[in-house]
Amino acid sequence: MKRIAILTRDCAGINTAIRAVVRTAYHYGIDVLGVVKGYEGLISGDFIPLDRRSVSGILNLGGSILKTARSKRFKDKEFQKLAVRNIRENSIDGLIVIGGNGSLTGAHILVEDYGIPTIGVPATIDNDINGVDLTIGADTAVNVALDAIDKIRDTALSLERVFVVEVMGRDSGYIALQVALAGGCEEVLLPEREHDIVKMSEEIKAGNAMGKVSWIVIVAEGKARASVIAETITEITGLETRVAVLGHIQRGGRPTALDRILASRLGSYAVDLFKDRKTGLCVHLENDREAAFPLSKAIEPKKVDIEAQYRLIKLLT
Ligand code: F6P
Repeated sequence: MKRIAILTRDCAGINTAIRAVVRTAYHYGIDVLGVVKGYEGLISGDFIPLDRRSVSGILNLGGSILKTARSKRFKDKEFQKLAVRNIRENSIDGLIVIGGNGSLTGAHILVEDYGIPTIGVPATIDNDINGVDLTIGADTAVNVALDAIDKIRDTALSLERVFVVEVMGRDSGYIALQVALAGGCEEVLLPEREHDIVKMSEEIKAGNAMGKVSWIVIVAEGKARASVIAETITEITGLETRVAVLGHIQRGGRPTALDRILASRLGSYAVDLFKDRKTGLCVHLENDREAAFPLSKAIEPKKVDIEAQYRLIKLLT
C-alpha cells in the first residue's frame, strides 16, 4: 500500500484521529491525501496532500481540518462511480473513513460494491455505532452538555424553577442518559423508551406540594422538543418553566483527554490494519485493546439496554 486517503465528518477528536492516521502512515512510508468536504469531495476529486507537518498543532482542535458536508449525491450510484473513478485516478490504495452512521454506510458501499479497501473509524457524538462501546466525540459532547447543565442548575435552584434542557443525539438517547446521571437531573426523556409526560408532570406537582422547588428535565432531541414538554409541565403544575436547547455546542470544542486518546489509538490502528492488508472493518476498543469487526455489523441499528441506568437516575434523585 503506497497511498491512502482520509475522509471525515466533524466532531471533537476527529482532528486528533487525522493526525494519528497521517503520522502512523508516514512511519510506514505511506503517502496520505485528505478528502476535502467528505463524500462531496470524493465525488468532485477534491484532495489535498497531508504530511507530518500539516497535522502539527491540530490534536486539540474541534471540527475537522478537512471540512465536511452531508452528501445526498453519494446515495446515487452515478456519483458513487465518479467517486470511485477519482480514487483510482489518484492512485489511492485505501480509504480511512472517520465518522458516524452515514459515513460508515458510505464506507461499506465502497468496499462491498466497488472493492475499494476501506477501514471505518467510529466518530459521532451520538454514540450509536453498533458493536462500539464508545465513539470518538461522544465523551466531549457529554462533558460540554454537563458543564451547561451544572450552570443551569445554579439558576434553577436560585429561582426555584423547572428547566427543560434539550440535548443532541438524533435518534440516540446516549448524551441525555449520561448527563442526567452525571448531573443529578430529576428526569430524562429518551427515544429508546416510553414516557408518560402527564404522569411526570403530576409527580412534579406532588413534589412541589411537599416542598421541592426546582427540577431539571433532560429531553433527547430524538424524543421531543423541549418547548412542548415545558408547556405541558406548566399547564399541569402551574409552575414556571424555562427551556434551554444546547444544540451544536455539543459537537464542537476541544476534545477531552479521553477522546484524544481514543482517537489517537483508533486512527493509528486503522493504518496498522491496512499494513496487514485488512479491509472492510470498523475499529474500536474492546477490553481496552484495539480491535476490529466487519463494517456490515457497524451499520446495523445499535442495540442498547438503558433501563438499568434509567432506574439508577430515578433512584438517586
Ligand atoms: O449525528 C450528529 C448530530 O450532531 C446529531 O446529534 C444531530 O441530530 C445532527 O448531527 C445535527 O445535524 P446537522 O449538523 O446537519 O444539523
